[in-house]
Amino acid sequence: MPTNINKAAYWDQIYRDEMTPGWDLGAPAPPLKHALDQGLIEPGRVAVPGCGFGHDARLLAERGFKVDAFDISKRALAGARKRHRGVKNLKFTKADAFKLSRFSGKFDYVYEYTCFCAIEPRRREEYARAVHALLKSGGRLFGCFYNHGREGGPPFDVTKSEVRRIFAPLFKIKKLAVSRHSIERRKGAELWAELARL
Ligand SMILES: C[S@@+](CC[C@H](N)C(=O)[O-])C[C@H]1O[C@@H](n2cnc3c(N)ncnc32)[C@H](O)[C@@H]1O
Repeated sequence: MPTNINKAAYWDQIYRDEMTPGWDLGAPAPPLKHALDQGLIEPGRVAVPGCGFGHDARLLAERGFKVDAFDISKRALAGARKRHRGVKNLKFTKADAFKLSRFSGKFDYVYEYTCFCAIEPRRREEYARAVHALLKSGGRLFGCFYNHGREGGPPFDVTKSEVRRIFAPLFKIKKLAVSRHSIERRKGAELWAELARL
């Protein structure tokens, strides 16, 4: 476990060393695109924690969502702002996902994609509480959890039973199933989730 995983410096260093980190798809995640194409999620105000270069945040904005995208890394955000300049209803803010209390109760949705697997596993309950606090009554968490089955991390493995254990006290689990729309190297390892705030 990297000792400074909770610090911006850890993530900034990866963006600095790799320019484009290995996790960046260079495009919106196909499971998200599928859900939007199918009209499974109605537009609303959405928070995107750990947005990276912001491809998913941009797609959400283009599909009618009002998007607040957050990342702890200023380098990620510089990359995001450069790529998506001028896109309406898309705002990038440097913030730690655990410190978003000023946005409490503001969102209809939180979109999850490779943020939960990036945080320190012992902080998962804390993360669930933070996300819960962002949502309005009736709000939803949707997106993917990364169930790659390997040891170590980040990214840290997220199993179905772990999602249930962490989120069930605060959310009703509406959907949690392997996505059929992942990119090749993540096939069978992404759990599409829709969780309704209790
Ligand atoms: C694996 S990357 C995924 C980025 C993006 N979701 C994507 O799919 O390309 C994880 C991202 O979460 C950010 N991150 C890690 N810990 C965070 C925290 N506590 N608060 C906000 N962002 C965080 C990192 O800087 C990084 O951009």
